[in-house]
Amino acid sequence: MASKKICVFPGDGIGPEVVREGLSVLRVIEQAAGKRMFETEEELLGGASYDVHGVPMSRNALALARASDAVLLGAVGGPRWDPLPFAVRPERALLGLRKELGLFANLRPAVVFAPLLDASPLRRELVEGIDLMVVRELTGGIYFGEPRGVSFINGVETGINTEIYTRPEIERVARVAFELSRKRSRRVTSVDKSNVLEATELWRKVVSEVGAKEYPDVALSHMLVDNCAMQLIRNPRQFDVVVTTNLFGDILTDEASMITGSIGMLPSASIGGKVGMYEPIHGSAPDIAGKGVANPLATILSVAMMLKYSFDMPAEAARIEKAVERVLADGYRTGDIYREGEGKKVGTTEMGDRVRHAVLNQYQKR
Ligand code: IPM
Ligand code: MG
Repeated sequence: MASKKICVFPGDGIGPEVVREGLSVLRVIEQAAGKRMFETEEELLGGASYDVHGVPMSRNALALARASDAVLLGAVGGPRWDPLPFAVRPERALLGLRKELGLFANLRPAVVFAPLLDASPLRRELVEGIDLMVVRELTGGIYFGEPRGVSFINGVETGINTEIYTRPEIERVARVAFELSRKRSRRVTSVDKSNVLEATELWRKVVSEVGAKEYPDVALSHMLVDNCAMQLIRNPRQFDVVVTTNLFGDILTDEASMITGSIGMLPSASIGGKVGMYEPIHGSAPDIAGKGVANPLATILSVAMMLKYSFDMPAEAARIEKAVERVLADGYRTGDIYREGEGKKVGTTEMGDRVRHAVLNQYQKR
């Protein structure tokens, strides 16, 4: 196998700290295999890029991403850059990458690791065994719709955004969700606001048609987004694959992350183009940046998703996931998942080290 080229964007805030741990886990896999498998190249992105280049995503950064087999991204943004004009905010880099790389489907799994059952704010009996997958549409909807902007209309200051979906955009993301569900329990919940928003009335219609025509073996149900927000807390186990719009997916996945105990645990994969992008769903967490206390597990699990979805290395991915479970079972906790008197509180690097040991152990056991 030719070595895989990974474009690395550590980004801002805790991004560089957690990305370092994720990459070190890849190095351990190479070590076990006894050969070089991954080539990595780094570029600035987000605020870090703005500070140096005056733009959140340089042409070089985009070119590097395009020429890679996969992208690993830490996080972008921070209060330092919030006052900047909209067009050069760090977040624009992230949205630009998604659009430029054609990453229309964002997979955000929420899995509860058994050792963390008590870290969830929900009762143990509600979260036990949770394993759901949100498929968020990522390159359309109100995030990208035109017209947009703030201007004076008839002398009145007015802010506009536009929710817009075309049939092909809905069909392709629906197919991703249906295909995934076939590898799981063949249940899909499509989430919309079809009682109020016409764009999502179309969403519901198209998802239903794709389901009926191409995936009659999958049980499809529909749910309004406000109800879904409530059901995720009331009875999260009813969900398997959830497919929804860009904005609703953004909101519901932050909510779903708390079922698992911490947003510091959730990885993501953005797919649909030639190059997949992998990132933890947490942000740059400027309040704890540079302190060495951030939870690297979401990034490490994102690396596992990269192995699975971009590099067709499911066995290696499973080893990483198992290693994370092992380390949690052994009681190691970063601050976000630590509870007084339970387990051992560790920092970012030690958590990474523990996972690396656990990965290596699995190779040695064979
Ligand atoms: C996410 C983030 C981004 C989004 C921001 C940083 C632009 O919240 O990936 O969920 O809204 O998509
Ligand atoms: Mg978000």
